[in-house]
Amino acid sequence: MARLCVALDTETEKALKLLDKLSDYPLIFKVGHKLFIPEGKRIINEIKDRGFEVFLDLKFHDIPNTVALAVKSAEQLGVDYLTVHSLGGGQMLKRAVEEAAHVKVLGVSVLTSHGKEYLRFLRTGFKSVREMVMYLAEVCVSDGVHGIVCSAEEVGDIKERFGDRLITVVPGIRFSKENAQDQKRVLTPGEAVRRGADILVMGREIINSPEPESVVERVLKSING
Ligand code: C5P
Repeated sequence: MARLCVALDTETEKALKLLDKLSDYPLIFKVGHKLFIPEGKRIINEIKDRGFEVFLDLKFHDIPNTVALAVKSAEQLGVDYLTVHSLGGGQMLKRAVEEAAHVKVLGVSVLTSHGKEYLRFLRTGFKSVREMVMYLAEVCVSDGVHGIVCSAEEVGDIKERFGDRLITVVPGIRFSKENAQDQKRVLTPGEAVRRGADILVMGREIINSPEPESVVERVLKSING
């Protein structure tokens, strides 16, 4: 069964209120730079103390030793998932996985805010974002990375090719494309699940809603069928 992860990209006070409001739902909470920089360990503990799993989304991308040290620190914090950029390369990914005793390492492929223009920017030979994501998925699998962050546009191909070898984590989830904001590769929750997403990541549609509970319920309903 797919799971829903709420991205807490907001101020501490609002994040704590959301944790209380959403305490009855089977959710994962994602902490990124916005909250982790001012709050660090405290916000991780607030989430864990309420019985939720924690996804630390700091997208490590550095030399292998520095990333290994960062993963070790995250492991000590007790987070359940963390992200590294798969573009950091094989050595970096291998060192990250070596330090991960309990935490699941997720390789970010191509950010969901990028589209085809990103390939021109990078001057790569990839003909499509999908081709680049599939290549990075292959790298993740061969380096033992536990999961991949990709868009709903690629998740079907990844599931088909790698099955349960990669946890598929999908941001860029929107009820309607008109509300994409800075995201480019977006799809609805139901479609993402149908294509094989294991974890749906949703931020603004939930945290900026006047009724986050009803948005969560709506997503959980489409996840359940
Ligand atoms: O508000 P929204 O639903 O667009 O939030 C998506 C979340 O997922 C953000 O926290 C963003 O940092 C994260 N994310 C993403 N694309 C990735 C990896 C993470 O949008 N490839």
